[in-house]
Amino acid sequence: MAKLLLVSNRVPWTVACAGGKGVLKPSSGGLATALAGTHARGETLWVGWPGDLGGLDAEARQAILDELQAQRVIPVELSAEEVERYYEGFSNGVLWPLFHYLLDKVRLDTDQDWDAYASVNQRFAEAAAERAEPGDSVWIHDYQLMLVPRYLRELRPDLRIGFFLHIPFPAYEVFRILPWRELLLQGVLASDLVGFHTPGYQAHFVNASRRILGAESREDGLDYDGHHVALGDYAIGIDAEAFSTTAASPSVMARVQEIRQDLGGRTLILGVDRLDYTKGIPQRLLAVERYLELHPEMRDSVLFLQASVPSRERVEAYAQYRKQVDEVTGRINGLYGSPSRVPVHVLHRNIPFEELVALYRAADVMLVTPLRDGMNLVAKEFCATRGDDSGILILSEFAGASADLREAILVNPYDTGAMAEALDTALRMPPGQARARMRALRKRVITHDVHRWAEAFLRDLHAQGPSPHPMAAH
Ligand code: G6P
Repeated sequence: MAKLLLVSNRVPWTVACAGGKGVLKPSSGGLATALAGTHARGETLWVGWPGDLGGLDAEARQAILDELQAQRVIPVELSAEEVERYYEGFSNGVLWPLFHYLLDKVRLDTDQDWDAYASVNQRFAEAAAERAEPGDSVWIHDYQLMLVPRYLRELRPDLRIGFFLHIPFPAYEVFRILPWRELLLQGVLASDLVGFHTPGYQAHFVNASRRILGAESREDGLDYDGHHVALGDYAIGIDAEAFSTTAASPSVMARVQEIRQDLGGRTLILGVDRLDYTKGIPQRLLAVERYLELHPEMRDSVLFLQASVPSRERVEAYAQYRKQVDEVTGRINGLYGSPSRVPVHVLHRNIPFEELVALYRAADVMLVTPLRDGMNLVAKEFCATRGDDSGILILSEFAGASADLREAILVNPYDTGAMAEALDTALRMPPGQARARMRALRKRVITHDVHRWAEAFLRDLHAQGPSPHPMAAH
């Protein structure tokens, strides 16, 4: 039977060095979490970067490589310079902010970073080409690897190649800012099937490919350079079963009781995000501040708890962002706190899975208000844990998830007043109405889970013939 190779920058485990020894820790972020289920189920190999093995001696290094092999991970190691240029520089200093419409965060000093991006993409393609057997399918993921489909096609025209973009594809007018726009599109268009989270992102990609490369629209995709590439929208889900079962477990229920006792009768408003400037945390804090300003009677009766998982800490914009979050938090607590209570509490750390589920289950209101987000799985995770249909979700209209989760209270995260009002609406919502909304949300999250997402994409990928690509003859 033909195998499947997954290819992504991040694999589900990242190496951490502790006292010369290496340990594999679960990676954070939607992609690794979502695909881990697919990998656990089947005969897949996973090609990706396991993090920095540089601090390990020969024995510790071998132990980690053995562990990775046991997990069917083919490691692509990156030098310190490649991490700086390909990962921090081009992927997260240029593509990430630009695709999220945050143009002031885009780094401009990046010619050499582009070279590193291209050469690391070539290495990922080589690693996949080396391990794939004739007729295998290869599923490449996300903005860090947009050139891989083309490089892989050149090396192995016999393979079926799928590509999935986990972040928004921006409007043409924004995408065209990139000096490397042709090469990036050509990289992706060498695939047999390209998937997006929403029809909107797909439409932007089609528009950019037509206007920049002159690709021709067909019913199910695009023709470019004598090759047909199918396109589709596939909204990613979560492993809903894992969240709902864990939420109902006795240990989590006991922890929920404890959290609620600690709250001492206060209402819990929760935020959970990687500490990333796309997530809109300061804007969310401003909305909480506005709410407390307008509702002095509530200052003692709500707690806004923000869990911020450290991310990309060596990228300058992320370090500055943390300072900004801490400053706004300090100001609100200074204004509205009392000697014994503060209205805002921020946790800067990784949260173990069971604790995360307990927080979701204990919260009264969940604030998921990114400025822009490909999908946002936190919103779906929250719904999956609400077995009794309690809990209210406030969701940004700029998250891909808002296309699916229509029963949430949808807000514009740039509009502080509207967000404060949404909080008020949530806190006053009659329980019957809240339950009806959550029931509908939970049902959708459970039926449209990550397994269904992966199956739908792979079914469509397998329906594409491994087409001899004209590039193979070049
Ligand atoms: C987002 C991206 C993923 C990425 C994750 C975590 O979800 O779409 O590709 O893996 O963030 O970011 P990191 O840079 O730590 O891999």
